[in-house]
Amino acid sequence: MTFSPAIKIAPSILSADFANFGAECEAIEAQGADWVHVDVMDGHFVPNITFGPATCAAIRKHIKGVMDVHLMIAPVDAYIDAFARAGADVLTAHVEAGPHIHRTLQAIRGHGIKAGVALNPGTPVESLDYLLDMVDLVCVMTVNPGFGGQRFIHSQIDKVRALRARIGDRPIHIEIDGGVTPETAPLVAAAGADVLVAGSGVFKGGSVSDPAPYGVNIRAIRAAAEAARA
Ligand code: DX5
Ligand code: ZN
Repeated sequence: MTFSPAIKIAPSILSADFANFGAECEAIEAQGADWVHVDVMDGHFVPNITFGPATCAAIRKHIKGVMDVHLMIAPVDAYIDAFARAGADVLTAHVEAGPHIHRTLQAIRGHGIKAGVALNPGTPVESLDYLLDMVDLVCVMTVNPGFGGQRFIHSQIDKVRALRARIGDRPIHIEIDGGVTPETAPLVAAAGADVLVAGSGVFKGGSVSDPAPYGVNIRAIRAAAEAARA
């Protein structure tokens, strides 16, 4: 995976048909998705449960590009090996998931894959002060994690701007997760984000048997974000 600062759209399969993950992953890639965002929830770190490494490994076979796995689990360290073996290209853990995020990121990078760190809306950028040299991606949560379809939290735009300044010329992606639409995408793209996760904003109006709306939604988010950068 080589670093590119271009805008990337990462549909979250949290909004897909859970009985059809393979076909849904193929459909969103065919409709122009750059990355596939996979939300892992444990009912403990967040108040919702999705799936674990076995499902990620099964999905992997249906993804040609980047599998971007977002771990909303605590504890997290005991599961890093399993998600790396499941084929994650990017593996992201939350800074709030426990006292040992530094060790967690070391473990992820130890597998030769990209390490991401996610920040909840209430967590300041200062929490990354001693981590930026060991991450490939920072995920700024623009909703409280746990559910799709929530409203974008505008206070996070300042956080993205502050983060972009701190990152400087390091090859680190800034990912936005939650409430991304053609209306909110330009706000975060202008502030310095390059990976836009969108669940409900991509899957609305479409299905595996009628995937064209996925493409319409992806193109609308991408065009709005790219226009804000120009
Ligand atoms: C929230 C997840 C997100 C979620 C985004 O906890 O991490 O990836 O699926 O969904 P939307 O785009 O609908 O806000
Ligand atoms: Zn996510």
